Amino acid sequence: MKNEHGVGILGLGIFVPEKILTNQDLEKMVDTSDEWIVERTGIRERHIADENTATSDLATHAAEKALAEAGMSPDELDLIIVCTATPDMFFPSVACLVQANLHATKAAAFDLAAGCTGFMYGIATGTQFIRSGFYKKVLVIGAETLTKIMDYTDRNTCVLFGDGAGAVVLGECQSGYGILGLDLGADGTGGDLLKLPAGGSRIPASAESVANRLHFVHMNGNEVFKFAVKVMGETAVKALDNAGLAAGDIDLLIPHQANIRIIQSAAKRLKMPMDKVMVNVDKYGNTSSASIPIALREAIDAGRIKDGDIIVAVGFGAGLTWASCVIKWGKGANTIA
Ligand code: UT7
Repeated sequence: MKNEHGVGILGLGIFVPEKILTNQDLEKMVDTSDEWIVERTGIRERHIADENTATSDLATHAAEKALAEAGMSPDELDLIIVCTATPDMFFPSVACLVQANLHATKAAAFDLAAGCTGFMYGIATGTQFIRSGFYKKVLVIGAETLTKIMDYTDRNTCVLFGDGAGAVVLGECQSGYGILGLDLGADGTGGDLLKLPAGGSRIPASAESVANRLHFVHMNGNEVFKFAVKVMGETAVKALDNAGLAAGDIDLLIPHQANIRIIQSAAKRLKMPMDKVMVNVDKYGNTSSASIPIALREAIDAGRIKDGDIIVAVGFGAGLTWASCVIKWGKGANTIA
């Protein structure tokens, strides 16, 4: 039987590694400048994981905070979904590693791969499990250590990315609140524009693949930029439509934090003033599937979200993929405030 409740965010936690890599640090590593990076991307610094830290470590810390905010113990979780492009290893999944770390003994666990769109795909997936009545509590985590797969001799990519994690506990909330609308999409014909070529079954790891630097991110930045600008407005409008709302109803837009110019163009297409758009790309760079929960946390902490607000989160990334969700925020709805 279908669940008549809404599905909302009961707890939200984020975690970023302590170490910061500034644009000035990068100036010493590749032929770049603080001025170029700030002007072309809006990024000033990013957090980077040390050699002993993997994606599951960041994910576990964020999850613990989300559970604490939800006032829940790990054994109440039915499912853990970790959205990541940078798993600790091929298998076991990061979700299983986190399940063990948390002692979430009753939870099923799997990873979800949708590039930087991962967290939005995860929210959509978790929401369906609860809406259907199959599960009550789902932990969705976006966690990445992108700096581990960066080529620090390639100025086109290495200045862009940072590490971090964000986690939410999804559960039932008052009807009319929580996740009101969703939109997901993919265009696999654009897969070559953003990829990590080797290490899988197409090009298994070899001395040659390492020498050819195929275990790092390869990206056609210009084409990804054009795709992102086009798709962000479109998917936001579709998710709003799915919720029976329009762009004018948005109180706060939480875009994937990849590049300030992409965010500004998307806001323009949605006819939204920048004071209704959350931006923190300057502090974290592009943390891929962690960027939206990190931005959401900072928006809440800055007092930018109030009871009854309509929040639209929009992601895009490798695949190519894109997705949006519309959330009606509210304390009375059992969602956090
Ligand atoms: O989550 C999804 C992941 N990916 C993205 O969101 C990336 C989307 N794309 C972008 O954000 C932008 O395309 C970039 C930031 C990657 C590049 O910005 P751009 O304004 O599109 O620059 P460009 O690629 O057209 O390059 C312009 C120039 C080139 O020099 P020449 O060929 O004109 O002499 C680049 O070599 O800027 C050069 N350049 C740099 N210069 C200094 C590229 N990277 C750098 C750099 N420092 N770090």
